[in-house]
Amino acid sequence: MLNRRTVLAGAASLALTLSACGRSSESSSEDSSEGGTVGLAMPTRSSERWLTDGKSLVEGLKAKGYKTKLVYGDDDPKAQVAQIDKLIRQGVDALIIAAIDNKSLNGVLQQAADADIPVIAYDRLILGTKNVDYYVSFDNEMVGRVQAHHIIEKLGLEDGKGPFNIELFAGSPDDNNTKYFFDGSMALLQPYLDSRQLVVPSGKTELDQITTLRWDGATAQKRMSGVLAEWYRSERIDAVLSPYDGISRGILSALKSAGYGSDSKPLPVITGQDAELASVKSIIAGQQSQTVYKDVRRLAEAAAIMVDDILTGWTPSVDDMSTYKNGVKAVPAVLLQPESVDKTNYNTLVRDGYFTAEELK
Ligand code: GAL
Repeated sequence: MLNRRTVLAGAASLALTLSACGRSSESSSEDSSEGGTVGLAMPTRSSERWLTDGKSLVEGLKAKGYKTKLVYGDDDPKAQVAQIDKLIRQGVDALIIAAIDNKSLNGVLQQAADADIPVIAYDRLILGTKNVDYYVSFDNEMVGRVQAHHIIEKLGLEDGKGPFNIELFAGSPDDNNTKYFFDGSMALLQPYLDSRQLVVPSGKTELDQITTLRWDGATAQKRMSGVLAEWYRSERIDAVLSPYDGISRGILSALKSAGYGSDSKPLPVITGQDAELASVKSIIAGQQSQTVYKDVRRLAEAAAIMVDDILTGWTPSVDDMSTYKNGVKAVPAVLLQPESVDKTNYNTLVRDGYFTAEELK
């Protein structure tokens, strides 16, 4: 099989910085190129990471000689379908899509297939269609494990400590990653729930009871406030499993409103994901405890290499041919490794050039 995966080895050194993208929901790179045009459909501008993804994809593809059309769906599935429809009509040569709702794209992806446009599911798997060619993401189950491991370590569960009170939060129900994060976490936490070293006073331990539509921090804040008011009048909360930094910050606000954050009522252990600047600062300040760092610049580079391979007649190299089943087929996947970041090792982010030391002050 012809592939050029080894090129990825140098991707980590990609010298990209985190300056924000423009605020328009649509942008085109100006340079002309012979490589063709790649449509980039990202889910939202409300979260820092997706701005970095968009910017890195544009830069990575431009470096390989491609023009790009970058659109943001502003967390509205219908708007994203309309944007992809427009990209197809504009004649893009390939599509890289981070879906808002994993099941809403089947119709528009049939149009892409009819026009022979290859489709890469970016970070989030697209379900229920054969018309998705590849998937690039991080090892999503590992993300959940990394979050759970932090809680286990911080609470000393392996040393038999407990019982501790914990509440569980999950991501958006229409994002396929949500299930992987949750399953990864529960694989490690369930034994401690069974032994009652961990107790969930609200009783909400099933995925469909704890999801957070569109990963919205305000939604999580509201749920945390409600849970604290109902179940923690005489109890203290020791840990919160949170899947994403935006949700973690919502949870933190609810906790602070309920008087947590003092010597007599310390904040619980709170996990997160994405190494967003506000959350990294919160970690340094001793509030959020942990995040999962996923260098999305490397993810974008992996997607750019994949598109370039496909459009130049190479077969992209993948890590996994069987795990990421979308209901119709197993989508060949490239999976990068996530990394836990807490107060002890956040300098990794500076070392990698993900943030400058100045930005973290
Ligand atoms: C997920 C993604 C996470 C986080 C979340 C909210 O799909 O894997 O890293 O970004 O969306 O945006």
